[in-house]
Amino acid sequence: MYQDRALRAAAAAPARLYVDGRWRDTERTFAVEDPGTGTVLAEVADASVQDALAALSAAASAQESWAATSPRERADLLRSLFDAIHQWVDEFADLITAEMGKPVAESRGEVAYAAEFLRWFSEQAAHRHGSYGPAPRGGSRIVTTRRPVGPSLLITPWNFPLAMVTRKLGAAMAAGCTSVLKPAPQTPLTSLLLAEVAERIGLPAGVFNVVPTTRAAEVSAALMGDPRLRKVSFTGSTPVGRTLLRQSGEHVLRSSLELGGNGPFLVFDDADLDAAVEGAMAAKFRNGGQSCVAANRFLVHRDVIDDFTDRLVERVRKLSVGHGFDGASTLGPLIDSRQCAKVAGLVEAAVSEGAVAVTGETAPRGEDGYFHPPTVLADVAPDAAILRQEIFGPVAPVTAFDTDEQALRLANSTEHGLAAYLYTRDLHRAVDLGERLEAGMVGINRGMVSEPAAPFGGIKESGLGREGGAEGIEEYLETTYLAVDLAAAGAGR
Ligand code: SIN
Repeated sequence: MYQDRALRAAAAAPARLYVDGRWRDTERTFAVEDPGTGTVLAEVADASVQDALAALSAAASAQESWAATSPRERADLLRSLFDAIHQWVDEFADLITAEMGKPVAESRGEVAYAAEFLRWFSEQAAHRHGSYGPAPRGGSRIVTTRRPVGPSLLITPWNFPLAMVTRKLGAAMAAGCTSVLKPAPQTPLTSLLLAEVAERIGLPAGVFNVVPTTRAAEVSAALMGDPRLRKVSFTGSTPVGRTLLRQSGEHVLRSSLELGGNGPFLVFDDADLDAAVEGAMAAKFRNGGQSCVAANRFLVHRDVIDDFTDRLVERVRKLSVGHGFDGASTLGPLIDSRQCAKVAGLVEAAVSEGAVAVTGETAPRGEDGYFHPPTVLADVAPDAAILRQEIFGPVAPVTAFDTDEQALRLANSTEHGLAAYLYTRDLHRAVDLGERLEAGMVGINRGMVSEPAAPFGGIKESGLGREGGAEGIEEYLETTYLAVDLAAAGAGR
């Protein structure tokens, strides 16, 4: 039954490349799976280096005319895309569940979240201003203006197959940049459906090109080595981000990198524990923990750790694990067998080092699909591997701290710096520690930081640049300055 619905959802999306406003077949294809059953949903065109370069040629040819459209025109197209996504919400939500696995209610949430980026950037498009003023020594004027960076490579992950695309595409379109999208090979169909919807609303050919591929390293190296490309925006792992950053040196590309996290979730002894548990559920179990901003380590004051853990376990036991289309599940599968084995290995190692799985069962479900039970681990050794690695799964390790300074030290003892969370009723502590936590985003008494109108991004090895917020569009814009000599025009001031 789930399989039929997943197959129907997959069949609604084109399984071909989208280049220069046309759908293209390729010699090779690759299989896209339903992680909830392990069955193949579709065979999708597998772009070669030549296909990707053709997409870049299309983006480069369209760049000048797209940059010349008025901001209002681009805003209207973004708004039309926002409206169209809402009209296609059922198709997008089913497709996200089919190829990524999250429960369909959560997929509908992702569709709404994804569409909001388009609305936000439609509102931003017409608000990029330059400046005009006298040079301090007089006699000339300084005029600044903004212009699009140029053709951009967008590389997106599988965990939010629609929202991670619109967050980049919305900003690129608003700024006047054309783009080539390389979606994750696990979830290419959602972005191909987006291309179809973009085509229907009249997005000009070449402005948005989509090239799914299994040859990611080869394809991105070829694109990054082509001087027509002017920007790369990547969401994914820190090791891949490092490689892209090195490659971006060749042609000095603008680079936005949203990389891995190791989010601490701090609960102080004065916290509202009910709110902290609600926040923990969102920060840990949204998307099955498969999010860069997921809480990775729960650091809880020793005086409230037992109470917090008991309440968390009670909530976790209410989660229902199953296929995203079963109508009841609140936790879907992990993306693939490799991720499932990785999470299981981390849990096993933590338990062998003395951690206690207070939720009981820790072994992945042995049937079809890549299901890992939601797990709370108590008594985790402070140096356990699970506290040093991004888990990307529904596992919550809990450890104790005694003082604010110790909590801060533990929280910051990572090379990552994406999201952090803290729960306290003390305003001074909230602001003081909120500012000293080494993270690009801090949720204060909130388990969710994601918001299209806010700047999303990390510090340290969690990345460069920001997406969303007023900053998001800036990543796709350059400032140029005109020095206007007034003396030559007969004016002396
Ligand atoms: C991510 O996991 O990279 C993004 C999550 C979000 O936008 O909330």
